[in-house]
Amino acid sequence: MEPCVVSGIPCQVLADARFLPAQRILACVSTRQGFDCTMVSRSPLILDQPEAFRAALDQARRDGKRVGLVPTMGALHEGHLALVTEARSRASFVAVTVFVNPTQFGPNEDYSRYPRTLERDVALCGSVGADCVFAPDVKTMYPDGELTRVRVDSISVPLCGVTRPGHFEGVATIVAKYFALSGACVAVFGRKDYQQLKVIERMARDLLFPVEVVGFPTVREPDGLAMSSRNRYLSEDARARAAHIPRALSASVRLFEAGERGAGALRQCALERIQRIADSIDYVEVADPDSLRLYESGEHVGERALVALAIRIGPARLIDNVVLGEDAAPCGEEAG
Ligand code: PAJ
Repeated sequence: MEPCVVSGIPCQVLADARFLPAQRILACVSTRQGFDCTMVSRSPLILDQPEAFRAALDQARRDGKRVGLVPTMGALHEGHLALVTEARSRASFVAVTVFVNPTQFGPNEDYSRYPRTLERDVALCGSVGADCVFAPDVKTMYPDGELTRVRVDSISVPLCGVTRPGHFEGVATIVAKYFALSGACVAVFGRKDYQQLKVIERMARDLLFPVEVVGFPTVREPDGLAMSSRNRYLSEDARARAAHIPRALSASVRLFEAGERGAGALRQCALERIQRIADSIDYVEVADPDSLRLYESGEHVGERALVALAIRIGPARLIDNVVLGEDAAPCGEEAG
C-alpha cells in the first residue's frame, strides 16, 4: 500500500491504481472520529487504451445512458470537480480524461514540470461520481508517424494565440481525438479558459461532432482568484499579488454596470490595476465575446463584452476573464 493525500486528507490508494480493477481503489470518507479509508461505491473504471475507452462509452449508450465527458490535464482541483458534477447532472455515465497534452505546450512552457497526480485525480473523480477515467500515454494519443492537426481559424488568433502560437492547434487536435473516441455526448468545459471554450465549440460545430459543448462558470477561491493547476507555482508574495486579478476584472464589471461602454475605458480600468502587480503582461483586452475580435480603444462595446487577460507573476502564467453584461463581478468589493 502506498500512502497518498486527497485534499489534505491521508488515505491509501492501492499501489497499482493505474490498472484494473479500479474497484479496489480506496477513497476517504469523513467519519465522526476523523477520517477513515473505505471503498467508494462509485470507483471509476480506469482505462488507458483508446479502443477500451470507445467500447466503454458505446456500451454505456447501449445501456440507455447519456454520456458526459470532461477533458482535463489532471492535477485536479475544485474547478475541475465542479465540471464533473455538472456533467453528472446532465448525463448518466461520466468520463474524465486525464492527459497532459504535449502538443499544446510551447518549447519554453511548463510541459515537463506540469503536475502529474493520477492516483489522487482518480480518487477525486470517484468522489464526485465519475464512472470512467481515461488516462492514455503520449505514444497512444500521438502514434509514431502521426501527421494530423486541427486548426480553428480566427478565433485562435488573438489573445492567447499571440503569445502561445500553436497552443490552440494542440488543444483542438487532442479534443477532436477525445470527441472521435467518445461519440455522442455532452462535453463540459470551463469558461475560465474562455478562448479555448470558443475554439472547441466552433471545432465541434465545423467538424460535425455529435457533441453538445457546455461552458461552465469559473470556480474561484474565496478571495476571487480563479482556481488553476498552476496556482501551486505561486509563492506567498505572488499569491497575494494574484488576488488583484479578480479585483481588476471586478472594477471593469462595475464600470460597465455604471453605464460605461467605451472599450478604452473598460480596458484601462482593468489594465492599470494589473500593471501594479504583474511581473509582465501578455495582454489585457476587450473583445467581442463570440467572434473574439478585439475592440479598438475608440470603439463602443455592445450589451456583452469580454475582458480577458493573461499575465505572469513569478513562474506562473495566469489567465482570467469576465463577460461584461453576463457575469457577476468576481470579487464582492474592489480593493484597487
Ligand atoms: P485543464 O487546464 O486541466 O482544464 C480542464 C478543464 O477544466 C477545462 O475545461 C478548464 O476550462 C476547466 N477549468 C480549469 N480551471 C477551472 C476553474 N477555476 N473553473 C472552472 N473550470 C475550470 O483545459 C485543459 O486542461 C486542456 O487544454 C484540455 C481541454 C484538457 C485539452 O488538453
